[in-house]
Amino acid sequence: MIYLSPPHMSGREIEYVKEAFESNYIAPVGKFIDRFEEMVKSYVKSNNALALCNATSGLHLALRVLGVSNSKVIVPTFTFIGSVNPILYERNEPIFIDSDKFWHMDLNLLEEALKKEKPKAIIAVHIYGQVADIENIKFLADKYKVILIEDAAEALGARYKDKFAGTFGEIGVYSFNGNKLLTTSSGGVMISDNKNLIKKARYLSTQAKEKGFIEYVHKEVGFNYRMSNILAAIGVGQMEVVDERIKRKREIFEIYKSELSNIADFMPELPNSFGTRWLTTLTFKELDPFEVIKKLRDNEIESRPLWKPMHTQPLFKNAKAYLNGKSEELFKKGICFPSGTNMSDEDLRKVCDVIKYV
Ligand SMILES: Cc1ncc(COP(=O)(O)O)c(C=O)c1O
Repeated sequence: MIYLSPPHMSGREIEYVKEAFESNYIAPVGKFIDRFEEMVKSYVKSNNALALCNATSGLHLALRVLGVSNSKVIVPTFTFIGSVNPILYERNEPIFIDSDKFWHMDLNLLEEALKKEKPKAIIAVHIYGQVADIENIKFLADKYKVILIEDAAEALGARYKDKFAGTFGEIGVYSFNGNKLLTTSSGGVMISDNKNLIKKARYLSTQAKEKGFIEYVHKEVGFNYRMSNILAAIGVGQMEVVDERIKRKREIFEIYKSELSNIADFMPELPNSFGTRWLTTLTFKELDPFEVIKKLRDNEIESRPLWKPMHTQPLFKNAKAYLNGKSEELFKKGICFPSGTNMSDEDLRKVCDVIKYV
């Protein structure tokens, strides 16, 4: 079976996991957590990092430490539910914004919503490894005095003018889930240049235990959101190959594009940005993606439709949305191709051949 984006170990992870076992730090503390946090923060050039059990918990803590509850929060409609569930955990109301020609949040609709809704925060999302128009989103967030959080779950290593996705807002979050560019099986990292925000999130992520007591003392609600030292050991091995993995993802994209650009329009890259092409995504000119997905599955190849927009989900049938039709069109025509960095060129050829002869 050719999978969509399976884990791709460097080979070193097993040594680090063994070392973690031998130290007996089989717990949500240990030196691999410190090392992993250090590697992520220095890679993306942020001042502080916090390793967590996943990115969803990171977004939840981001809202919590920034005091975003019982408010309105703007988020793109064209995203994964992991961007939106944390908004609900804090009893906020999501306001959905449709996509532009780069598939990211449309700036005109964003400004209209900022004027009308008076939200407390924006969660910008960098989908499929490609950066959103983050400089302009930040400009609007500043103009309307709204907190900016970045969901960079899918975009570790993506850059806009050499600044990393995740480092523009108050807080950024990366996912290390099994299907991501790098994985710790499940995991997330929160980053921020604001030391106090990370300090507060660290405290909340370990059940909000008060320091300076022998017994456990709690003054507020906490969470159990930390990453295990064992998983962080995997993360250290993964971070060592981050640039190699991005290079291969981009090569895979170029191969698909050279083979199939007569029948499809590939996800564009924002000018001045460098995306990781975490998944190769495109819209077909004529083919029905759902037919192609079936055909690929018959040939033991996994593929997926593009995100089903949040405003079309039963969960959000009453939610406010600023729409232009783009995300629904993307969903109708689009597909994610298998993009695992451990795919061979022969695998890629097989995928292309199946598509050409649908
Ligand atoms: C855009 C987006 N946001 C959030 C998440 C949540 O990440 P995690 O699975 O690590 O909680 C994911 C992926 O899983 C995602 O793709």
